[in-house]
Amino acid sequence: MAMWRAADIPDLSGKVAVVTGTSSGLGAVIAGELARHGAHVIHGVRDPAVVPGVDARRLDLADLDVVAGFAASVDGFDVLVNNAGVMWPPLRRTRQGFEWQFGVNHLGHFALTALLWPRRRAGARVVTMSSILHRTGRLDLDDPNYVRRRYSPEGAYAQSKYANVVFGLELHRRGGTSLLAHPGYARSRLQTSGPSGVRAAVGRVMNPVFGQPAAVGALPALFAATSADAVSGAFVGPSFLQLWGGPVVVAPVVGSADPGLGERLWAVSEELTGVPFAV
Ligand SMILES: NC(=O)c1ccc[n+]([C@@H]2O[C@H](COP(=O)([O-])OP(=O)(O)OC[C@H]3O[C@@H](n4cnc5c(N)ncnc54)[C@H](OP(=O)(O)O)[C@@H]3O)[C@@H](O)[C@H]2O)c1
Repeated sequence: MAMWRAADIPDLSGKVAVVTGTSSGLGAVIAGELARHGAHVIHGVRDPAVVPGVDARRLDLADLDVVAGFAASVDGFDVLVNNAGVMWPPLRRTRQGFEWQFGVNHLGHFALTALLWPRRRAGARVVTMSSILHRTGRLDLDDPNYVRRRYSPEGAYAQSKYANVVFGLELHRRGGTSLLAHPGYARSRLQTSGPSGVRAAVGRVMNPVFGQPAAVGALPALFAATSADAVSGAFVGPSFLQLWGGPVVVAPVVGSADPGLGERLWAVSEELTGVPFAV
């Protein structure tokens, strides 16, 4: 079968898409393609000045007050792409005291989705961006914010991306139209802007060699967000070794689809964010 491409995105005229993290990398491609196919795109970015000429609004996922303000500014949406993310920073804490990666990658998007939920239009889809590294993750719901555990940048990233999967599948089980995507290995700022020292240096060397263009890495999320063939509960990733290539349906790691785990993550996320999420 021919590879699904951005040219296969259907006409999105009249649709409103909210995309987080559009200042660079995959988010910039996702927002650009959705707009090119007719959608009105609301860009959720930390600094709206860096994406001039579009409907950009301030969204800092590391501060739940800012998340609430952003959500209140959105009247309705057909597509929400929870794309923004950070990888492997040294230990730091969000405004509300969460470990940065769990706070930004998962809790910020959980709160955003919950607050936007009453504003969804009929048939609205939520696409949450995970990573192949979710496969190495473990969700420690007794200490998700590394208060008692020794901090590991890699462990915390994998945990946050595992949480993205557990959240996306639980939203689907609760009746939402919820899909997951991951880009494989794509060239972006991700591997160099979050980590420090040796980790960033490795990213600078590896990216040009092993990363696929962001335009290709964005295809799983674009397929999940727009294709009539993408169904709720699906996880979409690249075709070749889940690292490179066009979008295909892939399997989440064993255990992430456990309904008990989904329920626990949901309850912990509601408690930590203080945002109830009734689907
Ligand atoms: N590239 C890959 O190979 C790869 C692999 C697996 C998964 N992913 C996932 O793909 C997604 C996009 O990453 P990317 O590769 O495109 O990286 P990127 O170029 O670094 O883009 C990340 C985006 O997230 C935004 N962001 C970071 N912290 C934020 C915060 N606190 N609040 C709001 N926005 C924030 C950044 O905005 P600023 O400009 O404000 O920093 C930027 O727009 C992430 O979820 C990442 O985990 C990427």
